[in-house]
Amino acid sequence: MRSPSWRRLLLLTAAFAAACGGEQSTGTQGIKIGFFGALTGPQATFALSGKNGAKLAIDEINAKGGVLGKKLEMLSEDDRNEPSEAASAVSKLITRNHVVALIGENASSRSLAAAPIAQSYQVPMVSPSSTNVEVTKKGDYIFRVCFIDPSQGKALAVFARQNLKAETASILIDSKSDYSVGLAEAFRTSFTGQGGRVLSEVKYAEGDSDFSAQLTSIDPGKPDVLFVPGYYTDAGLIARQARGLGMKAVLLGADGWDSPKLAEIGGAAVEGAYFSNHYSVDDPAPAVRAFVEVYRKTYGSEPDSIAASSYDAAGVIVDAIRRAGSTEGKRLRDALAATKDFPGVTGTITMDADRNPTKLPVILKVENGRTKFAARP
Ligand code: PHE
Repeated sequence: MRSPSWRRLLLLTAAFAAACGGEQSTGTQGIKIGFFGALTGPQATFALSGKNGAKLAIDEINAKGGVLGKKLEMLSEDDRNEPSEAASAVSKLITRNHVVALIGENASSRSLAAAPIAQSYQVPMVSPSSTNVEVTKKGDYIFRVCFIDPSQGKALAVFARQNLKAETASILIDSKSDYSVGLAEAFRTSFTGQGGRVLSEVKYAEGDSDFSAQLTSIDPGKPDVLFVPGYYTDAGLIARQARGLGMKAVLLGADGWDSPKLAEIGGAAVEGAYFSNHYSVDDPAPAVRAFVEVYRKTYGSEPDSIAASSYDAAGVIVDAIRRAGSTEGKRLRDALAATKDFPGVTGTITMDADRNPTKLPVILKVENGRTKFAARP
C-alpha cells in the first residue's frame, strides 16, 4: 500500500514534468517566436528598431494574457548583414530553439537567402519590410506585411513627375542589393512611362566611401532628380558628396533611407530630400498615435517605420496563431494566408494570393533633421 507521502511525491513529479514542457505540457511553456536581423553593420538601425517594435507587440500581448493560454517568448539572432548568416540564423532558430514562426529579415537580399530555409522546415516567416517582389515567391510559408517595390517605385515616379514636376532623373544603384536593383527598375519603368527621361544609371556597392566618380559622371546631364534606391549609410554619404560637388538635383530615396542615422550622416545635404516610406510618425490616426506614444515611453526614441512594421509583423503572427488555435506549421501558415483587415500601425493588412498585402507608401520630406509627411501619391 502506498503511503500518503508517496502520493504527494507522484503528484509533484507529474506537476514538475508538465512544467518542464515536452509533449505533455499543460500550457506553462511559452510559444517561441524567432527574430533575425542585422543587429550590427551599416544597416543596424533597421534590426535594432525592428527588434524593439516586435518586442513591444509581444510584451503587450503577454500583458493581456498571451495567446492560446500561453505566454510568448521572442528569441533573436544577429545575421551581421550577411545573407548566408541570415540563412544560418533561421536554421538555428528553428532547429535549436524550436520557434513556431519567424519575424525577418528587413532587407530583401537577406530575406531572399533565409526564406528557402524557413520554407524547407515549413515554419512561417513574415518579413516586416522586405519589399523586393521575389521574396514571397520563395515559397508558400513566406509572407510580408509591407508593400512591394513595383508599387513603391511607381509612387516615387508619380511623386517626381506630378509633385516635383521632374522631367529628368538619374539613378544611383547598389548593384549587389536585390532591393536596389528591383526598385530602380520599377522607378525607371514608371518614370519613363509617364513621359520622364532617365539620363543615366550608375552603380555602386554598399560600403563604398567615395562616390565622386559616379557623381561626376551623372553631373553633366543636370538631372532634376537624383534617385538613390539604397540604404541610409550610403545615401547619407552620397548626399554629402553630391552637394559637395555642387549638384542641384532634388534627392529622392526610398524606405531604405529611413533611419535616425540618415540625418546624422547626411547633415545639411539631406535637408529637402524626399523618400517613400511605410508610415509617417506624424500620422494623426489614433492607432499610430497610440503606438508612437508607448514606443517613446518604452524606448525613449521615435519609432521609425521598421519599428512599426515589425510591431505589425508580430501582431499578424499572433493573430494567426489565435485564429488557427494552434502553432503547428501548416495550420499557422493557412491562418496567416487568410489574414484579412488586420488593423496594423502601418495600415490595414490583408494578404493577397501571393502573401503580399496591398498597401501604399507615403512620401516624407527631411526637414531640420527630422522627417515630415509630404504626400500620399
Ligand atoms: N525595403 C528594404 C528592403 O527590401 C528594407 C527596409 C524597409 C529598410 C524599411 C528600411 C525601412 O531591403
